[in-house]
Amino acid sequence: MKKESPNIALLGFMGSGKTTIGRQLARKIEWQFLDSDDLIEKKISLPIPSIFEQWGESYFRSLEKEVLQEVALKDNVVLATGGGLPAQEDNWQILRKYFLTIFLQVDFSRLYQRIKGDSHRPLLSQYSTAQELEKLYRERLVYYGRADVIIDGNRSEREIIEEILYHEKISGLWRKR
Ligand code: S3P
Repeated sequence: MKKESPNIALLGFMGSGKTTIGRQLARKIEWQFLDSDDLIEKKISLPIPSIFEQWGESYFRSLEKEVLQEVALKDNVVLATGGGLPAQEDNWQILRKYFLTIFLQVDFSRLYQRIKGDSHRPLLSQYSTAQELEKLYRERLVYYGRADVIIDGNRSEREIIEEILYHEKISGLWRKR
């Protein structure tokens, strides 16, 4: 069962705007904004690409789970999650209980234009063609689709924020505080 006053977690593939939208949303509702990738980098004082390079993806995933557990204990947080966080089954026990989850759904072609060639995203060298990356995106849709709320992210930032703010499952969370 979900906690009575859950935090908010934004889910979605790389480039879907979780950080940009999350930061603006948090400002509007006067909650704290956190980003799981930033928390990981601060925790171990290394940038994400170096963590993947020196320690491997599975170590990165264990750090990701740790920071998710830490944020779950806080209140009034909007969390932008890394694109792979919801694809780890274990993380759903935490997401389901402590967060109202919002999937920012953006078309793959748009995402690809935004992220291609980004050297700060190590998965782009593992999935180096558009086809490989699209396959990963499709596999992950199964997980993202579990979110409590699905928002069409193919629109302007202003429209996305408005829809989130006044969504029937979300407006009650911040208005009652
Ligand atoms: C990842 C997405 C990244 C970051 C890491 C792995 C993924 O976050 O967590 O590079 O597995 O999709 P963004 O979604 O913020 O780019």
